[in-house]
Amino acid sequence: MFLECYVMEDVIEEVKAPKPQTGQANPHGPETADRDRPAAPETAQAGRRTETLSTEDRAQDRWFMEDRGNRRVPKRLDVPNEALVSAAGPLKLTGNITLIDEAGQTHYANHLTLCRCGASRNKPYCDDQHMEVEFFDSGSIPQASECRQMANPQMLTVTCIKDGPLKYQGYLRVYNRKGQQCLTMQGALCRCGRSTKKPFCDCR
Ligand code: FES
Repeated sequence: MFLECYVMEDVIEEVKAPKPQTGQANPHGPETADRDRPAAPETAQAGRRTETLSTEDRAQDRWFMEDRGNRRVPKRLDVPNEALVSAAGPLKLTGNITLIDEAGQTHYANHLTLCRCGASRNKPYCDDQHMEVEFFDSGSIPQASECRQMANPQMLTVTCIKDGPLKYQGYLRVYNRKGQQCLTMQGALCRCGRSTKKPFCDCR
């Protein structure tokens, strides 16, 4: 069964709703990812109480790690790269993500919660300020088309542009809880909260 999909200029293919398997990280977001994960990954935050963690810490706490040689590195997940657009809240990225911050520093992650309201004091990460500023967005994905199954999990590079959007390169399924989705290969996601084409940047 193919899902209805929403399209931008560079939408390319149709995608089936992925079915997370037991023992595999769930690509649909942190709530279910936590539920389906067989065990918590080892992280720098191991042993700390979850409720005391900042959002950035919580995002890092959801990195999936593996041993490679004598190093512990972010795991390459066998799942598509996905961005869940939460209504009136952040972007939740899951997949094989390389994040380049405004300072040019490179970070690797399998899960990130990124601000899209523009009010975070810890950009690019969400720090829950969207509730303080009463950020409102329906989370809708504005343009629609069909797209096809993505071949294999791909790498995704997300670059934080100073005073600008989150530019991304690599296959990315953008979706919401209403069943709207699109598959794109490159583009820019709004992180100031003012785009008229949210979740995408309208370059204003
Ligand atoms: S979306 Fe959470 S602080 Fe901006």
